[in-house]
Amino acid sequence: MTKIYAHRGAKGTYPENTMLAFEKAVEMGVDGLEVDVHMTSDGQLVVIHDEYVERKTDGEGMIRDMTLEEVRALSAGARYKDFEAYESSWEAEKVPILQEVLELAEYHDIELNIELKTNKVLYEGIEEKVDAMVSGYAIEHKIVYSSFHLPTLIRIKTINPNARIAWLNKKVPSIIYDYINTLKLDAVHLSYNAVLKKTGKIGKSEDKVRVWTVNDVDDAERFFELGVEAIMTDFPREMLQARKEY
Ligand code: G3P
Ligand code: CA
Repeated sequence: MTKIYAHRGAKGTYPENTMLAFEKAVEMGVDGLEVDVHMTSDGQLVVIHDEYVERKTDGEGMIRDMTLEEVRALSAGARYKDFEAYESSWEAEKVPILQEVLELAEYHDIELNIELKTNKVLYEGIEEKVDAMVSGYAIEHKIVYSSFHLPTLIRIKTINPNARIAWLNKKVPSIIYDYINTLKLDAVHLSYNAVLKKTGKIGKSEDKVRVWTVNDVDDAERFFELGVEAIMTDFPREMLQARKEY
């Protein structure tokens, strides 16, 4: 059965990449969470999508130039007043540290996709830090690292040959399974519209394919029929409901 991962938490309904969004997604019954990770100037791993804080917090600046204390002083929920479910308590949401999400995933025994956002900013040593942190958790085998930046994934695999790695791609590579085999990838994470245009190319190894970001139930049903390993969605409740038919 195709798994359902909450993309940045249940971000269609709650403030993305916050503990609130992750907890709500877990309550909905998702199989996994997808999170984006950056590193602060003092070497701490934080969960936020952009390399800067302006879009989704009330602060300004680049994560790499800010200390953890500075990042944690920001509100990650204050910019969501136009969301239907908005409550004033959202203003207290902070940018999570990776440990918080690991603990949540471990407590509920669910999968976790850690996307390392090294494609725009290089964070020296982030691969070692993430691997060292994850190695203390019982759900280590349920964690998959992804990145658009292939050297990051190769670095992780070199540090820890048991780490599961997935290459993020906006297109379906023409030699997709050559990539998987040669680079010893565990999976590829592909953009949903690229896969919909080229479903024939993903062949018989659908279990090595996860697809993002699937927010339309009709699209999700096509992926359930194709049998891809997982879809990532901003609307897990709706997708979990649709999956009941499969
Ligand atoms: O991991 C899939 C997806 O999250 C990649 O794109 O920009 O949403 O991080 P983005
Ligand atoms: Ca992501």
